[in-house]
Amino acid sequence: MCGIVGYSGVRRAAPVLLEGLEKLEYRGYDSAGIAVCDGGVIRIAKKKGRVKEIAQAADFNGSVGIGHTRWATHGKPSERNAHPHVYGKFAIVHNGIIENATELKEECLARGESFASETDSEVLVHLVAACYRGNFLQAVSEGLRRCQGSYAVAVLCEDFPDEIVCARGGSPLVVGVKEGETFIASDLAAIASERAEVYVAEEGEFVCVKAGSAVFYDRNLVVKQKERLQYDYNGDSPEKMGFRHFMQKEMSEIPSVLKKSKLILSNREFYKVLCQTKYIDIIACGTAYHSGLCAKYAFESLCRVKTEASIASEYRYCNPIVGKKSLVIAVSQSGETADTLAAAALAKERGAYLAAVTNVPYSSLTRLADYVLPTDAGFEVAVAATKSFNAQLALLYSLADLRSGGGGEWLKGADALAERVLEVSEGVRAWTPYFLNAKSVYFIGRGVDYCTALEGSLKLKEITYLPSEGYPAGELKHGTLALVDEGTPVVAIITQKALAEKTMNAVHETRARGARVFLVTSLPECAEHPEVTASVVIPACREIFSPVLSMIPLQKLAYYVSIARGIDPDKPRNLAKSVTVE
Ligand code: G6P
Repeated sequence: MCGIVGYSGVRRAAPVLLEGLEKLEYRGYDSAGIAVCDGGVIRIAKKKGRVKEIAQAADFNGSVGIGHTRWATHGKPSERNAHPHVYGKFAIVHNGIIENATELKEECLARGESFASETDSEVLVHLVAACYRGNFLQAVSEGLRRCQGSYAVAVLCEDFPDEIVCARGGSPLVVGVKEGETFIASDLAAIASERAEVYVAEEGEFVCVKAGSAVFYDRNLVVKQKERLQYDYNGDSPEKMGFRHFMQKEMSEIPSVLKKSKLILSNREFYKVLCQTKYIDIIACGTAYHSGLCAKYAFESLCRVKTEASIASEYRYCNPIVGKKSLVIAVSQSGETADTLAAAALAKERGAYLAAVTNVPYSSLTRLADYVLPTDAGFEVAVAATKSFNAQLALLYSLADLRSGGGGEWLKGADALAERVLEVSEGVRAWTPYFLNAKSVYFIGRGVDYCTALEGSLKLKEITYLPSEGYPAGELKHGTLALVDEGTPVVAIITQKALAEKTMNAVHETRARGARVFLVTSLPECAEHPEVTASVVIPACREIFSPVLSMIPLQKLAYYVSIARGIDPDKPRNLAKSVTVE
């Protein structure tokens, strides 16, 4: 959560910082702020709300600065709690949480210092100022040594007007260097279009940034040589490319993402582990958890390997039984989700082989994993994950296919099918009036369709704020049916022939209580049923892999209901895309 940027170069820093921050807004948009060092004086602009709110106030001249976009943890969203925080000659931006902030703050208060905000971060700038005896880097290092928790920070000091000192301890930080200019950011997305040489800061490292240079130091402040990050800049950038919303653009990319997915055979060592393991644990959060759940059905049914999908934050605290040398797969679009990282570290500690399925090849998760399986879906900016879900499924299903002796045939033509599904899914736009003011919405399915129901419900909740639940169709009658009454929208997913009749029973049960039933199905005969209010018929694919297609109409449904309710689907309230706090 929270995004930080920094710039030292030849251009005016303010517009560069604002542009970078806009690309990081997916990390939080409760408030934004920048600090620019202008002729040895630090100038600050910060406001509650989006980055664009500070554009006018940020009309500074200096060419060195730092910026922040916030997802509130300590202290409500407000101008006062917005970063940068300033004390003495210093300004700081921080991504992370300082767990012992209260205790450290008391120390500062006892020295007679006063605080302007309710944040945990403000204490950092006080600590740095207290440790300062003329050596900027030393002061940042000493100040941070007092802190428990996680951080990526960037600091300005009026005595060093051309310099930024940064540090990484648990939150991501990348540095881009090109002729005369240096950029720092929480994520490559903010600086990719600059086409600079990129370096990833490792845990415990410090960086001294000046125009066109970056010197890295280890935790003992010894200079370190760094290797530049190898990444393909293929023109992919977090831009809307003419679409009204990122979510719309990202859904439209699903076919090309599926086309790029291929069976991973290259890593022989991983292949051996995959084929030999007797047990697979999948750990993830949010949408990534749902792709893990879909994969469980595929691994168990095709490979007959016992597979468990767990929510990472629960996995950590249930003292999990992890088979030594069994396979644990951590799934994370960002590769930075704190709970997923902690669960993955625990599994590794207990002797499992750790594979990372992630969309960010330089993320913290990749550094932890024994095997990295990139999803290669390109930048995903909308908070609600769409194409990354389909990409995770393509990859996980390919693993199941591989282990069961398949050759990836199922993936051939998946892109063309997805293209067709995108077209027919436009039909869900006509469903929106039935959902607009619903008291609650239910998504039901059996088998793999139950996983799709869960993800469909999450999508709707995230970007429409409508209460909704994903439920196993067969379980409805054991309680939840009591909530269904006249006009309640029920979305049923039916893609498996053998289960169609059974799920249709649940449709009848809800219909009998007055529900309006909407159907996503690959079986036209179900769509024709008179009890169905409206349906989308999608092309059939191998049934066990059907969520990769059947989820698309539900993504679109959430999108259209969101805009019909006047919500920005890319930036739903209270949420952030990269959840780097526990
Ligand atoms: C947040 C996002 C979700 C995402 C989840 C896991 O809650 O809003 O869209 O699914 O984090 O993120 P990850 O990057 O680990 O896949």
